[in-house]
Amino acid sequence: MLTTATAKAAGKAIPVALLGASGDLAKKKTFPALFGLFRNGHIAPTTRIIGYSRTKIDRPDYLKRISQYIKNTSDPQVKAMLDRFLDQSTYVSGLYDQDSGFQQLEHELKRVEQETGAQDRLLYMALPPSVFIPVATGLKRNCYTTKGINRLIVEKPFGMDLESSRVLSKALAALYREDEIYRIDHYLGKEMVKNIMILRFSNQIFRSCWDKDHISNVQITFKEKIGTEGRGGYFDEFGIVRDVMQNHLFQILSLIAMETPASLNAEDIRNAKVDVLRAIPEVIESEVLLGQYGRSEDGTLPSYLDDETVPKGSKQATFAAAAFHINNPRWSGVPFVLKCGKALNQQKVEIRIQFKDMGEGLFHKNDMARNELVIRVQPDEAVYLKMTQKLPGLGMETVMSELDLSYASRFTNLSVPDAYENLILDAILGEQSNFVRSDELDEAWRIFTPVLHKIDRGLVPVETYPYGSRGPEKVADFIARFGFERHQQEYSWPETSQTRVAKEGSPDSISKL
Ligand code: NDP
Ligand code: BG6
Repeated sequence: MLTTATAKAAGKAIPVALLGASGDLAKKKTFPALFGLFRNGHIAPTTRIIGYSRTKIDRPDYLKRISQYIKNTSDPQVKAMLDRFLDQSTYVSGLYDQDSGFQQLEHELKRVEQETGAQDRLLYMALPPSVFIPVATGLKRNCYTTKGINRLIVEKPFGMDLESSRVLSKALAALYREDEIYRIDHYLGKEMVKNIMILRFSNQIFRSCWDKDHISNVQITFKEKIGTEGRGGYFDEFGIVRDVMQNHLFQILSLIAMETPASLNAEDIRNAKVDVLRAIPEVIESEVLLGQYGRSEDGTLPSYLDDETVPKGSKQATFAAAAFHINNPRWSGVPFVLKCGKALNQQKVEIRIQFKDMGEGLFHKNDMARNELVIRVQPDEAVYLKMTQKLPGLGMETVMSELDLSYASRFTNLSVPDAYENLILDAILGEQSNFVRSDELDEAWRIFTPVLHKIDRGLVPVETYPYGSRGPEKVADFIARFGFERHQQEYSWPETSQTRVAKEGSPDSISKL
């Protein structure tokens, strides 16, 4: 599939206009992703990148910004490709609310189209949401081609709540058709998130147990080790629920929970996702746990409020856990618990599907761990199934172990592409299944808006947790409330080791029959 897709894109000359080219996202993600596609021949060698923003930047400085986050530039082959990529990159400085700048951009677009014979255009708004509409308007008025297809990429966040998101959607809909709008949620471009549909719908073993009769609860966890360091101004306006849970984690939830789509067509997939969202009632305050990080226990790492970019006394949540219920025949009674936080003890994103207990009979409950299917999104992409096995030896002792597919050891000669590479390639190809449709967005906001308004009014308590901890103390009780069970056997997934047994030397790791 990928080979066909990249071959199609590789033959297709398309200029990319990157609005907000002076910004953080452009520098860290968009330019490196575009270069990754260019270097690996996934997009046409004639691809032209035109940056646009208000800052006046001279050419050497602009080229430095483009290259700053590109890796392996000391390799002569990479360096040669980069030189070519830079040669084909240009920059236009202009305002976001006046036609003159967009007219210059149009001039540059026409120039490169003449050179390359390109007809379609990719217009990427790597900008703060406050300027989405003026920029989309300026682009429509001045840079909308009638010769080919216009594709407009919009970054998150798409609004602050249901009402503001609808205002944004309505304003965009007045300018562009839905099939021209590509709302990015970069989690949809992550390898393991894209893998969910394949795991679910091409393996009989999962198809047959993916429901309330077999599954006790589902947990989707996002943990970051760093705090908001320097991004506090942006973050404080949104908070962790809007920044991560309502979009990234909810996209994962809908892929885990949706019914089988009628086909792999973008509309069929997105219809299936919207259907499952419709079956989810609004999240309620008593099923939400919020936290904000304080200083680390040893006092060396700063609290959220120590960040100079955070308003004094802010009550904004940097940690949230919430439970969601899906009222349909497949999932009724199975809680989906979403957890996300900054300044925690670990860096990881994972999906944990915990199966129901095995009935007792031959074996006692304490000798059988619950089965858990874990999809490790990042880092160290993996899928593993926790299960009870016989401990090798003369006895009949049980041990918790796993069937393990670790990408690093299984796919040694393949690399996992960056999420933005995946999504930009999809947008160039006009493939919309990994972009968020407006009704999907509407449903997600419907579910979150009432509780978000209570959070905004300070009506939901925010517990403090130490920087570098597992989150607020109440988190263990919170997830236990929704049926998550930690087995008594001490167990940790052996991320690098070849051993497939529970932690060595731990007396609790082996249960005797
Ligand atoms: P920046 O704050 O770096 O803004 C991008 C550019 O927009 C700036 O270089 C600036 O360009 C212009 N700009 C900034 N503030 C304003 C303003 N108030 N009014 C008008 N123009 C402004 O943002 P990011 O690059 O970090 O993010 C861009 C978009 O991508 C946002 O929607 C963000 O939520 C999203 N995003 C960012 C991620 C990241 O890692 N940075 C990750 C995921 C999503 P100039 O002044 O030169 O015009
Ligand atoms: C962004 C959020 O959308 O996703 C950030 O704004 C968060 O706060 C980031 O850190 C996480 O993305 P990734 O790809 O690093 O997991």
